[in-house]
Amino acid sequence: MAEIATNVLHNVGNVLNSVNISSDLITRKLRNSKAQGLGKAMQLINEHPDDLGTFLSEDAKGKLLPGYLNQLVVAITQEQQEMLDELNQMNKSVDHIKDIVATQQSYAGANSMTEPLFINELLEDALRMNAGALTRHHVTVVREYADVPQVMGDKHRLLLILINLISNAKYAMSDLSNRPRTMTLTVRIVDDNFLEISVKDDGEGIAPENMTRIFAHGFTTRKEGHGFGLHSCALAAIEMNGHLTAHSDGPGQGALFTLQIPLISVTENA
Ligand SMILES: Nc1ncnc2c1ncn2[C@@H]1O[C@H](COP(=O)(O)OP(=O)(O)OP(=O)(O)O)[C@@H](O)[C@H]1O
Ligand SMILES: [Mg+2]
Repeated sequence: MAEIATNVLHNVGNVLNSVNISSDLITRKLRNSKAQGLGKAMQLINEHPDDLGTFLSEDAKGKLLPGYLNQLVVAITQEQQEMLDELNQMNKSVDHIKDIVATQQSYAGANSMTEPLFINELLEDALRMNAGALTRHHVTVVREYADVPQVMGDKHRLLLILINLISNAKYAMSDLSNRPRTMTLTVRIVDDNFLEISVKDDGEGIAPENMTRIFAHGFTTRKEGHGFGLHSCALAAIEMNGHLTAHSDGPGQGALFTLQIPLISVTENA
């Protein structure tokens, strides 16, 4: 039970960071909103209740007003769209948090809930949920997405795994200063019946003796790590009837994490 609780906290914590970034961004946008200009424009109009026509057609300031209002409409529309996009992103994160908690509460059954998914879109969601940190760490993301049809998949378990693998890759490269930091995400179909998703980095690599230990609950080599991430990823992979494997040529040689799950096409499931 304690192990489950720490896993929940760890995975919720990962996503909360992105909720926080979104809410900061929306707050900043609202604070600096161009909509404030409307007040000033209306004040000018209110100052001319009896000669508004003359004011708009002849006064130096008045003549500029319609053009200004038009620009305002464009700017406010754009602001609103940006805020909607950010809120949409935040909703996805909150939704994922709700699901992490719900999944863990019904852990005994651990049934996979599958739904039709475009895997490439899911990868983009996971990247967005890590976006703040990836930018901060100057990580370049390379996408090698095969043209995979819509499949049946467990969205939240997949997201959980991806968010953890992306976060680990980012940390593994944080000491790289002499070359660019590149993370490669690959999606492909193997042998017609496995969906394979991999996350590769060119960071610190893994020593051979740690290759299996990294999946143990509580194993960490990071000062601020907890060793919860890969353990919950490996469990989630098994719960989807798949598996998660790690490969590294050794310290300094980067690492490759590969998830394989059975490929269930949407039509097959219908
Ligand atoms: N991409 C990687 N490159 C090199 N080592 C890695 C990589 N991913 C994981 N590891 C090793 O596996 C260990 C366990 O990873 P895991 O995600 O379980 O825990 P953590 O990242 O240390 O802490 P947290 O619980 O916060 O995720 C890491 O401490 C690190 O030693
Ligand atoms: Mg981790």
